Amino acid sequence: MSATSERIIIKGGKPMDGRIRINGAKNSAVALLAAVALTEGSVLLENLPQISDVECMADILQAIGFHLSVEGPGNYRFTAQDDPKSTTPDELAKRMRASYYFMGSLLGRLGESCVALPGGCDIGARPVDQHLKAFRAIGAEVVEDMEGGRISLKAQELKGATIFFDMNTVGATINAMLAACRAQGVTVLENAAREPEVIEVANFLNAMGARVRGAGTETIRIYGVKHLGGCTSTCIPDRIEAGTFMMAAAATKGVLTLVNVIPEHLDAVSAKLGEAGIRVTHGLDWLKVDAQETRPRGIMVKTLPYPGYPTDLQPQAMAFLCKAAGNSRIQETIYERRFGASEGLVAMGAKIRIDGNNAFIEGVESLTGCDVYATDLRCGASLLIAGLSADGETHLHNLHHIDRGYDRLVERLTELGMDLIRVTM
Ligand code: EPZ
Repeated sequence: MSATSERIIIKGGKPMDGRIRINGAKNSAVALLAAVALTEGSVLLENLPQISDVECMADILQAIGFHLSVEGPGNYRFTAQDDPKSTTPDELAKRMRASYYFMGSLLGRLGESCVALPGGCDIGARPVDQHLKAFRAIGAEVVEDMEGGRISLKAQELKGATIFFDMNTVGATINAMLAACRAQGVTVLENAAREPEVIEVANFLNAMGARVRGAGTETIRIYGVKHLGGCTSTCIPDRIEAGTFMMAAAATKGVLTLVNVIPEHLDAVSAKLGEAGIRVTHGLDWLKVDAQETRPRGIMVKTLPYPGYPTDLQPQAMAFLCKAAGNSRIQETIYERRFGASEGLVAMGAKIRIDGNNAFIEGVESLTGCDVYATDLRCGASLLIAGLSADGETHLHNLHHIDRGYDRLVERLTELGMDLIRVTM
């Protein structure tokens, strides 16, 4: 893999110390931004993280006809002009996976949509069959243009239906809600995803005038309405960003207080750190990780849909467990190819054996910095954590992956006593 000229140089080995404010959640923000396409009024979204995925979704909204005014850092007001365009620009849509939410929101708003097939992290096959099944069930005709890489949806009339999802899917649950809130009658989503992002989108839709009930349970009912108007909504804290900092504090034997978090969203992460012997305490909207003077124990981590341990924090756990005492096992059950970080970690001296969807880690005393390459967003976070806990200098490459999901990471880690710098060479 060739090195890009931009990199983060990390001088590892310092314990993290301080307090960090957690940003708005990427995976909520991108869904809320697509949901904006349903409004016929003016919507203010507050506390959006300032990351490239959010900028890309905002660019798409503007390209299809919404007016944007920025009312402060992370506070974006979108105002509907005429009917939006039903086609999103290919170049923008292909940049990120969450653009697929425009399939649902534009279908709901206009009865048609045309969106290029999603990009995003390369972590295995990521089909959209469940999304398309939901759109078909409520009356849309689906045309997959393989050559142009687009999916077109068109409905004479959207009609409520019962949809049973074959697996826990955040994206298809949200997309079905977006399309169904303007359908006639009741849509029932069975085996719906229960992630906080799903609840957040349902709350936002309801604030605009939709009638979505049951989000956060396995059955969501959507009673169709004729019109969605304006509202103000604040993005929830990013549990994955918070978990990434928790793992970094644990890996560097530091003490970190996280504020603006919803501790309940991080129960699985706190529990796993606790099993490894690290002290985690919390209040209403804060969490504290204390990993001083503790060499963590090896543990078993199995990724599961919420409220289980999140797949988006699996690579970060792998980085942390490399230096734990004894053996650990990570079982990845959501994606078929999400052990991309192991290559870089092994280059740093970790002992990891991958067997199918299991990673077996034998704890080592130390890691040694070297050149490592992010292959996706969370892999980048994992290698960064390893670099912070390693001896010597780590050069992390392919920074565009990290920029998709983490805002001002170098600056914020520096404020926590970490020694790292972003350079162009
Ligand atoms: C969301 O992806 C997140 N992305 C992912 O975060 C996260 O890993 C994932 O949920 C699981 O929590 C966004 O919110 C933008 P899924 P999503 O539909 O919605 C299979 C990150 O690092 N599936 O819940 O696309 C799928 O292949 C990213 O921030 C189908 O087979 O995930 C996967 O194995 C990466 N057919 C599983 O279900 C479908 O039609 C869960 O996917 C849909 C999904």
